[in-house]
Amino acid sequence: MLKIQENISLKDFTTFQIGGKAQYFVVAKTEEDLREAFAFIKSRKLPLFTLGGGSNILVSDHGYNGLVIKNEIKGIKFIDQANDKVILECGAGESLDDVVALSVIRNLSGLENLSGIPGTVGGAAVQNAGAYGVEIKDHLVSVGGLNSDNGKRFIFENIDCQYSYRDSLFKKNKKFVITTVTLELCKKPFFKTEYAGLKNKLANIEKVQASDIRKAVIQIREDKLPDWRKVGTAGSFFKNPIITSEYYEKLIAVFPNLPGFPETKGKTKVPLAWLLDNICNLKGHKEGKVGLYEKQPIVLVNLGQASAKDISDFAEKIIKIVKEKTGIEIMPEVEKI
Ligand code: EPU
Repeated sequence: MLKIQENISLKDFTTFQIGGKAQYFVVAKTEEDLREAFAFIKSRKLPLFTLGGGSNILVSDHGYNGLVIKNEIKGIKFIDQANDKVILECGAGESLDDVVALSVIRNLSGLENLSGIPGTVGGAAVQNAGAYGVEIKDHLVSVGGLNSDNGKRFIFENIDCQYSYRDSLFKKNKKFVITTVTLELCKKPFFKTEYAGLKNKLANIEKVQASDIRKAVIQIREDKLPDWRKVGTAGSFFKNPIITSEYYEKLIAVFPNLPGFPETKGKTKVPLAWLLDNICNLKGHKEGKVGLYEKQPIVLVNLGQASAKDISDFAEKIIKIVKEKTGIEIMPEVEKI
């Protein structure tokens, strides 16, 4: 029998260390647990939110009126293929970094650039987690789970998941609760090392292995990002804006050093950290209990006891300043519930 708890504080289930209480809260370890949870929300007509590692959410100070399911469905299976590939089936509740570490130990390539990202595999599949030139979608075969509306099992192939930069079908449609993520890794070295900081760190290594990349990525992250175990944060709070290439040309006429990365046709992604640092002069900017991290201004930090409202108000101010100074409308990456 599933244990449904009431009035559970969500604060400690988030890396921001912020948030009110869940009206109902349950830990799901199996598909059967999920089915019981679905029956509960159906009988009471409650909304549902599925929580992974809580590393990319800002929970309201008023909490969540509905059922929060903490997805702890586990399982890691490596399935050797006849070709150069290995299929990796993971329970959605596995820690992404544990899965990355295990694949690196086996000297498989694909996930090493995603080292050190907090959160679960399911969460990564929802938000298409990415770092240092790799996104999880690049190695994802399919996502399986249960549709909470009718209890039916679904399997979406990569192409059906509507993946784009930090976005997917699952981000928009909460009825799909992920239970398994299937990835494909390579037995041969097939690395992505173009990211400047990574390239530099690997420069003196003759035959780069997945473990070298993991080590380098963890070092870069330690240099740039706050340690969520010590500081309340959800990593990048905003997305890097994607603007028209035409507007990018206009901007570089004024700010010649502004980096730009071509996206889909006619669009350019610009690093928000650069805009905040060099145009808005906001690097390390603090107001009360909230601040932009000194080393990486796209990251918001809870300087201690900040409320969700403090974070949202601060973020709104940043959005306004960026709009005024650059004409660009930035969007949060972190999901508010
Ligand atoms: N920059 C500055 N000043 C700074 C920091 C950075 O001008 O103080 C400029 C530099 O030109 C730098 C550029 O901003 O080259 C981009 O910075 P960085 O490489 O650190 O990455 P980012 O674009 O800010 C994204 C992801 C991170 C991911 C890194 C590495 C988003 C929203 N964020 O950040 O992901 O780790 O790239 O690939 O896309 C996350 O999603 O939570 C996250 C941390």
